[in-house]
Amino acid sequence: MHSATIALVFGASVAVAASIDSRLLQRTNGTTGICSTLAKRFPGQIELPGSSNYTVETTAYWSSRDFLHPFCVWAPTTSSDLAAGIKILADTNTHFAVRSGGHSPVAGTANINEGVLVVTTAFDTMKVVPAPNPMGTQYFSMGPGKRWGQVYDFLIPQGINVIGGRVWSVGSGLLLGGGISYLGYKHGWASDNVLNYELVTAQGQVLQVNNKTYPDLFWALKGGSNNYGIVTRYDLKTVDQGEVFGGTIVYKPENTQDYLDAHQAWINPGGGVWDDSAAIMPNVDYSPLTKQSAATWLGVHNAPEDNPRTFENFTKIPSLTAAASVMSFGGVVNQTKEYGGTLGRSNWFATSISFYNDTLNDQYKTMVSTADSLLAGLNVSVGWTAEPITTSFLEASRRAGGDAIDLDPQRGSFHIALCYAFWDDEKLDARVQNYLETLIKNLDAISKKKGLYYPFTFLNDAGGTQNPFATYGYGKSLPKMKAIAKKYDPKGVFQRLVPGFKLDGPMLS
Ligand SMILES: Cc1cc2nc3c(=O)[nH]c(=O)nc-3n(C[C@H](O)[C@H](O)[C@H](O)COP(=O)(O)OP(=O)(O)OC[C@H]3O[C@@H](n4cnc5c(N)ncnc54)[C@H](O)[C@@H]3O)c2cc1C
Ligand SMILES: *[C@@H]1O[C@H](CO)[C@@H](O)[C@H](O)[C@H]1NC(C)=O
Ligand SMILES: *[C@@H]1O[C@H](CO)[C@@H](O)[C@H](O)[C@H]1NC(C)=O
Ligand SMILES: *[C@@H]1O[C@H](CO)[C@@H](O)[C@H](O)[C@H]1NC(C)=O
Ligand SMILES: *[C@@H]1O[C@H](CO)[C@@H](O)[C@H](O)[C@H]1NC(C)=O
Ligand SMILES: *[C@@H]1O[C@H](CO)[C@@H](O)[C@H](O)[C@H]1NC(C)=O
Ligand SMILES: *[C@@H]1O[C@H](CO)[C@@H](O)[C@H](O)[C@H]1NC(C)=O
Repeated sequence: MHSATIALVFGASVAVAASIDSRLLQRTNGTTGICSTLAKRFPGQIELPGSSNYTVETTAYWSSRDFLHPFCVWAPTTSSDLAAGIKILADTNTHFAVRSGGHSPVAGTANINEGVLVVTTAFDTMKVVPAPNPMGTQYFSMGPGKRWGQVYDFLIPQGINVIGGRVWSVGSGLLLGGGISYLGYKHGWASDNVLNYELVTAQGQVLQVNNKTYPDLFWALKGGSNNYGIVTRYDLKTVDQGEVFGGTIVYKPENTQDYLDAHQAWINPGGGVWDDSAAIMPNVDYSPLTKQSAATWLGVHNAPEDNPRTFENFTKIPSLTAAASVMSFGGVVNQTKEYGGTLGRSNWFATSISFYNDTLNDQYKTMVSTADSLLAGLNVSVGWTAEPITTSFLEASRRAGGDAIDLDPQRGSFHIALCYAFWDDEKLDARVQNYLETLIKNLDAISKKKGLYYPFTFLNDAGGTQNPFATYGYGKSLPKMKAIAKKYDPKGVFQRLVPGFKLDGPMLS
């Protein structure tokens, strides 16, 4: 080895050692400092590194890129404890992350290294509150610690449902980013069906936030993620729920084009989809290593009718496995349990594209060519889902009272194109991120050329360097959202100390 190289390597390792030392010191100070303050004040709620619950909580994430090492984990049991503790965290300028279901694959949005991890695990109540009540209608009270599968297991046997997530293990954070459900074409974003939030603010208040008490905050929370406080209870509108036709179909690799054609036929270029009481959750995966693709589809038609016409083109394609039939809503969601485990490393980015007659082919071909050029020969599984958002979906959102996302039904129907990747080797993180960012640019170049780019970034599917809030209301919402944040969090605690998607733009990479 040349001596210059040795010097370089040695110099670098000294610098690394120094930074590890200072981080270790900061970590020790954090664990002994703020964490012992919290542990004295809230006995039994603090988990220190080394305890088994610390390990459980710091690995309760969908993507292993989120397995970080906070000073300690705090699982408050009441909103008044949380309110008192938030003041301590704010007054000591302690960075803290907030986690519910841990399903955001954007590393660092719901966990933290140099700070405290606050988990909502202990907020786990579920209760149906019948009318008459002060809210004026029956509702379902849900602690943010619950997963959607648990919610459906509780509600569906009672013949009722809420507008929530599509996958069993996903958490309540979905309700703070809009939220796509199986019932969206009739009910809009899941967020629009929240009647009341119990919110702990930066100033240590516990607020009941609804359209009468704090209409500004209520509007901002419907899309505003963790920028306004920590939600400790959601009161959700209920709807009647009977049996549905639904389930999963896994197609053979040679039938990917048939799947794309079926999806293309299902959407209506003039706006809307074939049937507003149905919904689809499609995925097309591709391996740049084997160059094989495979489509998987899950459909729900909200009526107990076998083989509904709306799905005719999906159900007639030859498949590897088909598990769609008349069953309970909870039975369909049970089929998504396998989406729930830790799958290794994952990441995703999203964009939006107005409906047009060739959009599925264009999106698919762009994914394949971008993966082939940037990930050739690598063991990375990429994929994409085109989620149709229609005029009727957006009209339902407005009917339900509106939200900070504030998209105009008159701008027509569009697809959210969610582009994702799974891999195991940490050394590929940057290449995968570059692939995803490039794919979004390539998709946008096509839709912009056609004049069909839809200027919306869906927070629940957004990547860490994207800025969803800037696209809300096509730019109109953000100034209002910032003013509301200033009003309820004048010191900017949730802007400065809490990671995630922030009003001022990406704080992650
Ligand atoms: C397999 C899978 C399926 C998915 N399916 C859907 C779907 O059908 N529809 C859809 O819209 N999205 C879907 N998503 C995206 C999902 O909605 C988002 O990833 C969402 O953030 C997950 O919420 P969570 O509670 O699991 O996440 P977390 O990672 O715990 O939280 C996400 C963000 O919300 C914040 N947050 C969470 N809880 C609170 C709280 N109580 N108060 C304040 N801030 C909080 C966190 O700080 C974090 O920044 C899916 C994701 C995955 C991985
Ligand atoms: C771990 O957490 C569970 C539930 O969250 C709790 O019942 C249990 O007592 C905790 N264990 C320890 C050792 O604190
Ligand atoms: C407030 O919400 C209730 C319940 O959804 C609804 O009936 C009422 O019209 C809303 N009021 C306003 C001012 O939005
Ligand atoms: C099925 O595909 C055909 C041919 O493209 C199309 O005419 C028809 O409308 C489609 N049906 C549905 C329900 O999407
Ligand atoms: C879903 O799975 C759980 C656990 O396996 C089971 O208890 C429940 O009955 C299932 N729900 C339905 C509707 O099949
Ligand atoms: C889509 O429409 C364009 C014109 O707008 C036309 O050139 C093209 O052939 C159409 N593609 C399909 C698949 O119908
Ligand atoms: C690719 O990674 C998967 C796990 O993600 C592993 O099971 C598989 O063996 C790997 N394939 C190759 C060719 O390395």
